[in-house]
Amino acid sequence: MHIKRTTQLIEPYSEWIDLETATLKNPRTHNVRRASVMRGYYKDEQALNRLIEAHDDPVHYETFEPQLPQEYGHLIYGLSTLWPGRVGDEFFMTKGHYHTVVETGEIYLCLRGEGYMLMKTQDGQCRAEKMTRGGLVYVPPYWAHRSVNTGDGPLTTLFVYPADAGHNYGDITEEGFPKRIVLRNGEVVIE
Ligand code: NI
Repeated sequence: MHIKRTTQLIEPYSEWIDLETATLKNPRTHNVRRASVMRGYYKDEQALNRLIEAHDDPVHYETFEPQLPQEYGHLIYGLSTLWPGRVGDEFFMTKGHYHTVVETGEIYLCLRGEGYMLMKTQDGQCRAEKMTRGGLVYVPPYWAHRSVNTGDGPLTTLFVYPADAGHNYGDITEEGFPKRIVLRNGEVVIE
């Protein structure tokens, strides 16, 4: 066998996901994003500041991941939970990102809750795919992606992406997304 690359050889293993609580047993990495990291992302910045002050900078979303080599050939997977709520009329969302290696895709399988995967390209195309338990969203290469929780409970997804993809948050900080998902007269509206 001719090996051209330097991808690490590691031992196979298995994981256990508790489908009732949508949690990963024994995650190696737990990343927590609090509401304050979302400054500049929501339309109503004052509403976000009120939320941060009233609830002592609450947890906004968090991810649980194993620790795997971040190199070509491996896959990174994990669970992401986005907590429910609104900033003004806008539903809680993740920052969203492009992949640094922009020609890499990602799969999201919704395990609980409801919401949307909001996606956009650099030339202004925008799509929203509904996420409910059992629904799988394929994010193709080149599409920036952000989760939005439109339900009353946590939105948990299992994600899988190429381990060398990397995350580019900077371009989203500058560009934003063309659409927002809001509550308008009791209805979820993508506008
Ligand atoms: Ni991604």
